[in-house]
Formats: sequence, C-alpha cells, structure tokens
Amino acid sequence: MTPPSLFTLDDLNLRVRHRRTERTLVRDASLNVAAAESVGLVGESGSGKSMSIKSAMRLLPRGVTAEGRIEFDGRDVLSYNRADLAHYRSRDVAMIHQDPRAYINPTRTISQFLTEGAVHTGQMSRDEAIERACALMADVGIAGAHRRLEQFPHQLSGGLLQRVMIVAALLPSPRLIFADEPTTALDVTVQSDVMAILLEQIRDRHVSMLFVTHDLDLAAAVTDRLAVMYAGSIVETGTSAEIYSRPLHPYTAGLLQSRPSTTGVHRLTAIPGRPIAAYEADEGCSFAPRCAFATDQCRTSRPRSRTVEGRSVACHRVEEIADDLKDRAS
Ligand SMILES: Nc1ncnc2c1ncn2[C@@H]1O[C@H](COP(=O)(O)OP(=O)(O)O)[C@@H](O)[C@H]1O
Ligand SMILES: [Mg+2]
Repeated sequence: MTPPSLFTLDDLNLRVRHRRTERTLVRDASLNVAAAESVGLVGESGSGKSMSIKSAMRLLPRGVTAEGRIEFDGRDVLSYNRADLAHYRSRDVAMIHQDPRAYINPTRTISQFLTEGAVHTGQMSRDEAIERACALMADVGIAGAHRRLEQFPHQLSGGLLQRVMIVAALLPSPRLIFADEPTTALDVTVQSDVMAILLEQIRDRHVSMLFVTHDLDLAAAVTDRLAVMYAGSIVETGTSAEIYSRPLHPYTAGLLQSRPSTTGVHRLTAIPGRPIAAYEADEGCSFAPRCAFATDQCRTSRPRSRTVEGRSVACHRVEEIADDLKDRAS
C-alpha cells in the first residue's frame, strides 16, 4: 500500500501571458511525496522543474498563473490566505536554492540570516535561535559556529554557504524541503560532500524532500522515487530503482543512455534534437519529434499518464516498446 501523501501536485498547469496569448509552462503535472520520503524531479534545463517548485511555494513570478491542486498535509495550498501562507513557508516547508549567493542578502551576517525568520514569526527567541543554529551548524560539519555567525556571506566558500542554507532550511523543523539543484552551482569536489550532508540530515530527522535536478544518476542514487519531466509534462514516475533498471518511457531511456558510464567503455547516445518548452509542443506527445518509436498516433494525440507495471507512464506505446528500451539502456 502506498503511504498517505504529505505533498501532492494534482494536474498542475502553469501558464504565462505572452503578448496576446498564453503559454503553457507546465502541463497536467501530478506527483506526490509521502512523509519521510525523498522524491526526485528530473528533467533537462527548461523543462519546468523550478517553476513547479516555485508554484509549490506560492512564489511564482508575476504573470504566471497556477491551475490544478497543490496539497500539503491534506490542505489546499492554492487557497491559502496570507497568514496560512506565512505559516506554510516558515514552518511546514523550506527551500534550498541552486545558488546561495543569489539568494542571501550580502549585507547581513550569517547570524542575522539564520535567526531573523524564526524570531520574526515568534517560533523562538533570538537566543534559542542562535543556540539551535549553532547545534545545526555542528551537525552539518561547520566548525567554529560562533565565529561563522558573525561573518558575512562573502567570507564563506560556496560549499560552506550551501551548508548554511541547509541549516536555514532545517532550523524551523519543516516537514518537507524543496531542494532545487542544491549542488549544481558548487565546485565538483564539494558537491558530493554537501549532498551527503543534506541526505544525512533529512534522513535523521525524517524530513521529506522534493529534490530537483537535471542529473538522473544523482537523483536515482539519492531518492526513493522519481518523477521524470519533459517539456513541462511528467512522463514517468516510479521507484528510483525500477526506473533506473527498467525505464518505461523513451525519454527516460534516452536520459539513461546519454550519460557517461562509470563502469566501462560505453557509447554515448545523445537524444536527437533539442529539448523544447511545453508551449512549443504540438498537439501530440511532446517527445514525439525526438522519439525513435513515434507513430502517427504519437504525433497527433497527447498521451495521458496511465499505470503500467505499477508505474505511471505517459506513452501510447509503452507495452510494445518496454523490452526494447531496456535493451537499449543497458
Ligand atoms: N519569469 C518567467 N516568465 C515566463 N517564463 C519563464 C519565466 N521563468 C522561466 N520561464 C520559462 O519557463 C520554462 C520552465 O522554466 P524552469 O522551470 O526554470 O525550468 P527548469 O528549472 O526545469 O530548468 C522555460 O521555458 C522558461 O523559459
Ligand atoms: Mg531550474
């Protein structure tokens, strides 16, 4: 039995006004995250991952509208009023951004950055917040917490600053963390350290995570389940292990084939063509122009997600081609 969902996107559609028309950025996206579960949202750049996370935080840019249902712990996030939203963003969920320097105010100390939210929302006193920040800094491997608290962001390396962001996310004890490419902007040598720390912390605390990345290998290694996004649509969801060993959607199989192998010589097969945004897609399957298996049906009718082998897959031909995909991906 699947555990009850803590966070749900149900048929989410995001649109932006463009000149006199509307452009679709995310189309009919559905996914859920259970308590203490990590789910990866994976797709190429421009596929709509960050927009989906922003809508989940109710932080969409001006002009972008959300339709569908966003649910946290059974409540309808899209109907939240100001007070509900403040509570939701400060206690229920937290966000870790791709580039900490673009997000943090360079004129405030680390101490101010870490404690202001919790103090302002009345969750704890300043002294309590500092004490908790120090304990969390030790947990994420930041030595000399008291000294670091008095420093400014530019005095910390990117890796250290992202650890501070992890502390900031954990400080109010949220139940769900949205992590949008949390290690992509870091030096390769520190990426795996920061990733390992983030994982250890959310596991120890039984916090759920929606982990956004373009890196299917990384996502499969660190999450329980995956949602694969292409051109604003989620084309496949399932357990990370199953998707990794037997992709059912041709796009997922393509992502798996186009990555460098670490276990031997392996010919790189890039997916032909370029990724598109949701609004560039014709009426058929958005992946059809790049898909080796596409038929006339694929080019003219958009496949809805359906359950195949216990997974959700949006492909007309999945039953016919699944075994071929497996052979190609291995
Ligand atoms: N502020 C914005 N207004 C309109 N369109 C946007 C805005 N930001 C991003 N987009 C478009 O939305 C689509 C999805 O972007 P995004 O969610 O950032 O992709 P990802 O995070 O998967 O790389 C892209 O086509 C992008 O060009
Ligand atoms: Mg993004």
